[in-house]
Amino acid sequence: MKIFLDTASLKEIREAATLGVVDGVTTNPSLLAKEQGEPEEILREICDLVDGPISAEVVATDAAGMIREGKHWASLHENITVKVPCTVAGIQATKALSGAGHKVNVTLIFSPTQALIAAKAGATFVSPFVGRLDDIATPGMEMVADIVRIFANYDYPTEVLAASLRHPMHVLEAARMGAHVGTMPVAVFHQLLKHPLTDLGLERFLADWEKAKKELGAKAR
Ligand code: E4P
Repeated sequence: MKIFLDTASLKEIREAATLGVVDGVTTNPSLLAKEQGEPEEILREICDLVDGPISAEVVATDAAGMIREGKHWASLHENITVKVPCTVAGIQATKALSGAGHKVNVTLIFSPTQALIAAKAGATFVSPFVGRLDDIATPGMEMVADIVRIFANYDYPTEVLAASLRHPMHVLEAARMGAHVGTMPVAVFHQLLKHPLTDLGLERFLADWEKAKKELGAKAR
């Protein structure tokens, strides 16, 4: 599964990218609004930090406006993926932008049928929001499983980008379901690697090593 970071923080992205396993970044207007600086500049810098799809979302709500904004975002860097909401205008814009050769991420997906329409419009990615469905007591991961199955049934090239992942179990389940990508906050990304038994095990190995070295030194004296 590809791992995307769901943040517009350059500091967070810079740190996480040092592990060499980050495949892309998703931003949205709320995430960009939290950062200081021009969105264009931030997006360009993100593209310099991570060599993979970087989602930049349109804020227009009509198709013509989305296409105009999408082309502007896409002109910033070849890795920019234009993010559009899953509305009627968003699907029209997806069809036009993908037809013009741009990568499109259809976002705010809350049902498998929305994902089906987005795939037919030529989306590169669809973003089902797992956590936000869980928030309203609807199992978000079932939607991911349905979308993965539907796309496989028809060999759609559109990738399922599991979004709104809030904790490591969401990431694990998305991987089990066969989601192509999982996008997550940096804190969740770090939690994926962390295990107390690894830390404890390493501590013991190093302590035993030091002890053995001391004992060898004492025998030699
Ligand atoms: C994805 O592209 C979205 O930016 C994000 O995953 C939304 O997550 P949230 O529901 O935790 O805000």
